[in-house]
Amino acid sequence: MKKNLMLFAGSSHAALAEQVAKELGITLGKLNLGTFPDGEISLQIMENVRGKDVFILQTIARKPNCYLMELLIMIDALKRASAKSIVPVIPYFGYSRQDRKDKPRVPITAKLVADLLEKAGATRVLTMDLHAGQIQGFFNIPVDNLHARLSMIAALNLLKLKDLIVVAPDIGSIKLARHFSEALGVDLAVVDKRRLSSTHVVSTTLIGDVHEKNVLLVDDMCSTGDTLVRSAQICREHGAKKIIAAVTHGLLVDDALEKLDSSLIEVLLVADTVPAYQTEYVCRNIRIQTVPTADVFAEGIRCIEYSKSVSSFSPG
Ligand code: R5P
Repeated sequence: MKKNLMLFAGSSHAALAEQVAKELGITLGKLNLGTFPDGEISLQIMENVRGKDVFILQTIARKPNCYLMELLIMIDALKRASAKSIVPVIPYFGYSRQDRKDKPRVPITAKLVADLLEKAGATRVLTMDLHAGQIQGFFNIPVDNLHARLSMIAALNLLKLKDLIVVAPDIGSIKLARHFSEALGVDLAVVDKRRLSSTHVVSTTLIGDVHEKNVLLVDDMCSTGDTLVRSAQICREHGAKKIIAAVTHGLLVDDALEKLDSSLIEVLLVADTVPAYQTEYVCRNIRIQTVPTADVFAEGIRCIEYSKSVSSFSPG
């Protein structure tokens, strides 16, 4: 690996940052992160970064407000220390769901976060499975959007499921689901979901035929679990056999794990872009399988550093 590259980690996902550094054959950059007595974040970069290509791994989940601010402060410090380029590596791009003005008097937080990152000094962003691809257009700097799909499919192939059909649990997931169905060479079906509030969804209709098929539900994220649980019910009502699910960002808030554990879903493949939640809860029915992404992020970083095509190894 070129000497010019450095990787620093915020405090959101130390395990993933360590794994990415290991994949790259480097050690994480040294910094002192702490808090002032009044709660403000304090930071000092403890290594010379002048003229370096600096990457910062920080996922914006679990404590999104704290981790976003921490990331902005790290970028600012690196800019003022004369880093040549500063690339936030954001496994889960938080605040991405508010990406349009779909009701009166609501913010577009995805655009706000893009502005903040740029203003702080980011020169490029590396992320994974953005909630909507168009968010790349909120930036005036390059954004490389990696995908967990190939790693998910490798894990899925080990399950050796036949008669498979991919199901999008809502209209917003159709593009992602289509990529899976094309890669697997199987059909696609769609659940029509209506979201009544951030914690309440109703799904009533299934477009497509899942009768006597094994179902793979795919979504970019699972938060309360309601979307997957309800979609699984609809699929079973329409004659589905085994139901498994694959999601990139396992937010799994509150009692999501319990809900999934008592649902019709037998296996949940979830990437490690967000640290595990409720690690003490032991699932009795569902098998949760973590799909590692460190190799994908490391390859993304290598591609950027060596000016190689990112889409050639992580196609859209
Ligand atoms: C929605 O647009 C997303 O793709 C997910 O379907 C949604 O965020 C999942 O949320 P929950 O698990 O709370 O139903």
